[in-house]
Amino acid sequence: MKIIKSKPELQKAITLLREENKTIGFIPTMGALHQGHLSLIAFAQKNNQAVVCSIFVNPTQFNDKKDFEKYPVTLEEDIAKLTDAACDILFLPEVSEIYPDGTAQLEAYELGYVETVLDGASRPGHFQGVAQVVSRLLDAVQPDDVYMGQKDYQQCLVIKRLAELRKDTFSLHFVPTQREPDGLAMSSRNRRLSEGQRALASLLYQCLVSIEAQQGTKAFAVVQKECIDLLTHKGFKPDYVALADAETLEPLTDYDPSKNMIALIAAFIGEIRLIDNLPLNSIK
Ligand code: PAF
Repeated sequence: MKIIKSKPELQKAITLLREENKTIGFIPTMGALHQGHLSLIAFAQKNNQAVVCSIFVNPTQFNDKKDFEKYPVTLEEDIAKLTDAACDILFLPEVSEIYPDGTAQLEAYELGYVETVLDGASRPGHFQGVAQVVSRLLDAVQPDDVYMGQKDYQQCLVIKRLAELRKDTFSLHFVPTQREPDGLAMSSRNRRLSEGQRALASLLYQCLVSIEAQQGTKAFAVVQKECIDLLTHKGFKPDYVALADAETLEPLTDYDPSKNMIALIAAFIGEIRLIDNLPLNSIK
């Protein structure tokens, strides 16, 4: 695997791949890689002859400074995992490579409704930061395909919108969430959980499953309150327990089998914010 830190060097390597008629699959990450990231690589390797992965902890998407400072960094382990997974190129830029003019005055994207709800409402500026970095990474890599994990479902929709705004032609693939045996969605932030917190963390998934299972038997408001009460009782601070239209993320006040629905939860355990979601199997 080539490890490349500068954009010109990356462009040279990409040109070489293109000369060999290879298509390029791209996976943007912030490192602290886990099985979820590796599943994105495996997915890319089915479609593309070359896979580029980036590791860049993007300062502009952290609305909480502490979260940025404590974001896990495990570079050596990450490089070993990517090498084992036969990733072709790791793009590993410094902040100055991505933001040569600093981060004080960056462009704003018209991301529309999708950035105003759920995580967008709770983490002001977060999705602008995601759009700013992904836009720069896309310019650098110029991929044929981009792979994103569905665990960050709202982020997937933001990148879809960004690609429309940029008139990109790559195909965007949303890859199903990888879970631990107890159902906890794999996430880099899970590394920060204490043993006690880790033992409780799969409660988010259990709530999502109960939201799905009670479709058709109870009103969503009742199930929502049960989930909020249970999470609170176990020591979480729920941010939202929501049911939404999976295409637009507009909130649904009750189950609506005429729509593609998704249940989404965000909750703090200690100072760690966990998110998860579950597209509902329709009972249409
Ligand atoms: O999902 C992530 O790891 C990040 O938000 C991303 C897409 C790499 C942008 O920094």
